[in-house]
Amino acid sequence: MGATPVRAQLLAVGELAPGRSALLLRLPELIASLRAGHALHILHAEAGGYRLRRVTPVTQIDLIAGSVQVALQPRADGGRDSLAELVPGAQLSVVGPIGQPIDIDSDALQILIVTDVEGFPWVRLLATSLAAAGRSVTMLLESNTAAEIPPASLLPESVEIHVATKDGSLGHHGSAADLIATYAAWADQAVAAGSSELLSATTLQLRASGVSDRTSARVSRPRGEGGAKRLQLIMAHEIGCGSGVCGGCTYQSAAGSVRLCKEGPAVTPSGGTGRTRGAR
Ligand code: FES
Repeated sequence: MGATPVRAQLLAVGELAPGRSALLLRLPELIASLRAGHALHILHAEAGGYRLRRVTPVTQIDLIAGSVQVALQPRADGGRDSLAELVPGAQLSVVGPIGQPIDIDSDALQILIVTDVEGFPWVRLLATSLAAAGRSVTMLLESNTAAEIPPASLLPESVEIHVATKDGSLGHHGSAADLIATYAAWADQAVAAGSSELLSATTLQLRASGVSDRTSARVSRPRGEGGAKRLQLIMAHEIGCGSGVCGGCTYQSAAGSVRLCKEGPAVTPSGGTGRTRGAR
């Protein structure tokens, strides 16, 4: 079912944040096709010998080194992750790219990214890619506590990071969504990832600031006047066929359904993918 798996060599096992593992892979057959927003499926035998497809968002691409970093999403049952216990040199079966690249308008120069620790793996490559392309990126990063925050060194220095912690141990005391009003007028486009609570709060805040989730609005409002012109929400999914068949990743909305593995992971708050016509 779906694309043919290719071989990947595990180069290293690391961490994006405390308890948030990442795999560094040598993946010559797919590396050139990967973009921000893509994930890979790693086919791996779990307990009982069942071979599952694990959804791993692509968090870093190094074309010179020929390496790709993907994040392991925490298991729903909180159990031990056997992928994180593999040793360098292990061979893995990988399918990808899964999903579509996050669509950023060519004239959007100032990008607001709102995320929490859970959503960070889905937007790290986006922030890095946009900064490398000369765009201005501000990230509002939410965490329960300072100890759980991904290190700032995972992002280019040019990315402006504002931290919010639920317990007030670092930065703003509260939600990252509390900070949106300050940046909504600055941003040409906004992307949010993370918990459903953060996505809902971000949507409310940006709508209150005048953002529209309709694609047509982005051509009618000058930059910097009235706030971000388009908001996309990154909807994570954890397991499934990856080929648009099983329906296990379907995101239901008032506007219809989106298969996150095919049309996602980015959706608009009203439910469409919000992709511009002809965009990859
Ligand atoms: S994972 Fe099966 S349709 Fe998306």
